[in-house]
Amino acid sequence: MSNPIEKTLDPTAEEPAQTLSIWMDTAAIPLERPLTERVSADVCIVGAGIAGMTTAYLLAREGKSVVVLDDGPIGGGMTGRATAHLVNALDDRYFELERLHGEDGARLAAESHTAAIDRVEQIVNEEKINCEFERLDGYLFVPPRDPRKILDDELAAVHRAGLVDIEKVERVPWDSFDTGPALKFPRQAQFHPLKYLAGLAVAIKQKGGRIYTESHAKEIEGGKNARVDTDGDGVVNAEAVVIATNSPVNDLIAIHTKQAGYQTYVVGARIPRGSVTRGLYWDTPDPYHYIRIETVGTGASAYDVLIVGGEDHKTGQKDDAGKRFGALERWARHRFPMIEGIEYRWSGEVMEPVDGLAFIGRNPLDAKNVFIATGDSGNGMTHGTIAGMLLTDLILERKNDWESIYDPSRITLKALPEFARENLNVAAQYADLVVGADVDSVDEIRRGAGAVISRGLLKVAVFRDADGNAHEFSAVCRHLGCIVNWNSLENTWDCPCHGSRYDALGHVIQGPANSDLPQVDAED
Ligand SMILES: Cc1cc2nc3c(=O)[nH]c(=O)nc-3n(C[C@H](O)[C@H](O)[C@H](O)COP(=O)(O)OP(=O)(O)OC[C@H]3O[C@@H](n4cnc5c(N)ncnc54)[C@H](O)[C@@H]3O)c2cc1C
Ligand code: FES
Repeated sequence: MSNPIEKTLDPTAEEPAQTLSIWMDTAAIPLERPLTERVSADVCIVGAGIAGMTTAYLLAREGKSVVVLDDGPIGGGMTGRATAHLVNALDDRYFELERLHGEDGARLAAESHTAAIDRVEQIVNEEKINCEFERLDGYLFVPPRDPRKILDDELAAVHRAGLVDIEKVERVPWDSFDTGPALKFPRQAQFHPLKYLAGLAVAIKQKGGRIYTESHAKEIEGGKNARVDTDGDGVVNAEAVVIATNSPVNDLIAIHTKQAGYQTYVVGARIPRGSVTRGLYWDTPDPYHYIRIETVGTGASAYDVLIVGGEDHKTGQKDDAGKRFGALERWARHRFPMIEGIEYRWSGEVMEPVDGLAFIGRNPLDAKNVFIATGDSGNGMTHGTIAGMLLTDLILERKNDWESIYDPSRITLKALPEFARENLNVAAQYADLVVGADVDSVDEIRRGAGAVISRGLLKVAVFRDADGNAHEFSAVCRHLGCIVNWNSLENTWDCPCHGSRYDALGHVIQGPANSDLPQVDAED
């Protein structure tokens, strides 16, 4: 078994930096060695975020031999960028889940998310994971002047879903701003997601599991001879394969027409310790704001960071992060005048399913032993934990009542308008194949930035490094051929169709695409 190498995500690396979340700044990320040989396991899990690591842990507990592969470090995907609210107060509102999935479906959603919070707490206690896990109340409130009926509709729906301890209160417990009435969700939780994953990594290895990082899964095959091949000549032969890559890299269409990638933004503001009551908070617009508090440091020098997220847009369809951070900061300063300064700004991608629930189970149109977990919406901490619980049962051929509501093959007829809206939006993006470029020539691109140019019929993604050298790639996304756009906040190429992302030098970092943008020679 290899010893983990402690490594922090270093934004000063050769490639241009992506933003740093508060978690990346305050925890070491365990890095394992890459896989370079052939190994066998009962289950091969691709992706070392919360979904993959929870699945690996729960299977290892059941005596299964597991191999986890990740092409970055553990937690280098969206788990390290979450604000890590652990909730059964779901994003998409229970009255909406009830409309889409019926009363039973909404009840199972409530039950599974509640069980997921409990399971995280149990794992933290049993494995003694020091990850700041904390139970606290959540509050849903309405912006000033918006109709408050939504709270009554939601309260009735959550009660029907079995969450009978949720109540309406006069306001959230903030002294600096009167929100008006709110719904109070008791026994929610928060934690430090990277410390939690680091603890899971230790526990997985103690149970005999193997974790390989910097190991890109390039080919995935299910069936009798299931296997995963990595870039570094590694091969895992397994009885079952779980693809937990946030957006499945082994699925071409079935899932990606039912979910969409949205970029969401977060600011972390320094505030005096204890000046805002600890809790989880959300409002109701679309996109909504999500808020929590994290304490940094210990003893007399400790202070709080008020974390506020929101301002979402479809991945790759806007490049105006400054405006979005500005809006978040104004929103926060208006409500929390005690803010001393903004310490963190980061963003990440959330996969939004058209019908409000994650896709967890057998990969549609694939062999029976290939499983996926995706479509988390803003509830990936619990959906990822549910994935661990549900996939463990499916792999062990045990009955699980949640199987049908999370079935990736489901078609939710009442979600067809949303399905059509998202897919019309995708179809419109293909116009970029023929219409103009961002700039006319490479010279117009400033150092450290990227832009798409036209060269004959070709669309070329050009990144100019700090020395002015141009790095040129095909701008055609490796998934289904849309043209990528430059993201000047994260220094990535983002696909406006289904949310694939590539770093400045064209390496794929987020599916559904699973290979790099090919380099283009200047004379091409
Ligand atoms: C700003 C923000 C705030 C959020 N806040 C919350 C919140 O408060 N509560 C909540 O519940 N959820 C929240 N979410 C959602 C949550 O972060 C995600 O849904 C969740 O982390 C997804 O976990 P995952 O394990 O599926 O994917 P990830 O954590 O993204 O892990 C996937 C892993 O797969 C690896 N990978 C990808 N392709 C390959 C390949 N081919 N080979 C090998 N490895 C590969 C990646 O490197 C990555 O490490 C938030 C998300 C964002 C962006
Ligand atoms: S993500 Fe589907 S075409 Fe790019």
